[in-house]
Amino acid sequence: MVHIQVILGSTREGRFGVRAATWVVERLSTREDLEVELVDMRDHQLPYFDAKPPAFTLRDYPTPEVARLGQTLDRADGYVIVTPEYNHGYPAALKNAIDLTFIEWTRKPVSFVSWGGVGGARAVEQLRLVCIELEMAPLRHAVHILPDVLVPAIQAPEPFDLTLLDALQPRLTKLADDLVWWAGALAAARAATPA
Ligand SMILES: Cc1cc2nc3c(=O)[nH]c(=O)nc-3n(C[C@H](O)[C@H](O)[C@H](O)COP(=O)(O)O)c2cc1C
Repeated sequence: MVHIQVILGSTREGRFGVRAATWVVERLSTREDLEVELVDMRDHQLPYFDAKPPAFTLRDYPTPEVARLGQTLDRADGYVIVTPEYNHGYPAALKNAIDLTFIEWTRKPVSFVSWGGVGGARAVEQLRLVCIELEMAPLRHAVHILPDVLVPAIQAPEPFDLTLLDALQPRLTKLADDLVWWAGALAAARAATPA
C-alpha cells in the first residue's frame, strides 16, 4: 500500500482550500490501495527561506520546524498538492516550503487539485515546472475546480457538505489511479537502487 500525502498550500484565514483538501482526503481514504495523510501548511510555521540550498545540504535542517516538515514529507510515496491560484501563480507559503526542502520530494510522483477562474490551471502549470527541478514526476491527470462548482462550494455554510464537490469525483478517481501506479513503481525503483 502506498502512502499519499495531501499537501494543502493555502494558509489564509477563511480559506476555501480546507474544504477542497478535506474532500480529497475523505474521498481518497475510501480506497484500499493507498493510505492518505493531510499535510496542512498552516500547521507548519516555517521560517522565511534564509538557508543554504537544500539540494546540497539535504537533511541538514536549519531549524527544528524545517526538520519536522522534512521528516513528514519523507514518509510519503507520492503527493497531491491542493492549491489555489494567487496572481496566476501558487501561494508563497507553498514555495517557501518547497525551497526549504528538496531530497524528500525527489523521485516521487505528484498530482494537483486546484481552483479559480480557470480552475487554478496557471498555478498548476507553474508547479509542474518547479516539481521537475525537484526531480519529481508531475502527473497529467489533475482536478481543476471551475466556477460552476467552486462558487457554490465557497458560498456553502458550515459544516461543509462534501458532496458539493462530488461532480469532480471521476477526475479524482483518474488522478488517484494514476498516482497509485506511479507511487508504487517509483517506490520499488527507489528501494532497488537508492540514490
Ligand atoms: C492574493 C490573491 C490573488 C488571487 N489571484 C487569483 C488568480 O490569479 N486567479 C484566480 O483564479 N483566482 C485568484 N484569486 C481568487 C482565489 O481563487 C480565491 O480567493 C480562492 O478562494 C483562494 O483560495 P483560498 O480561499 O484557499 O485561499 C486570488 C485570491 C487572492 C487572495
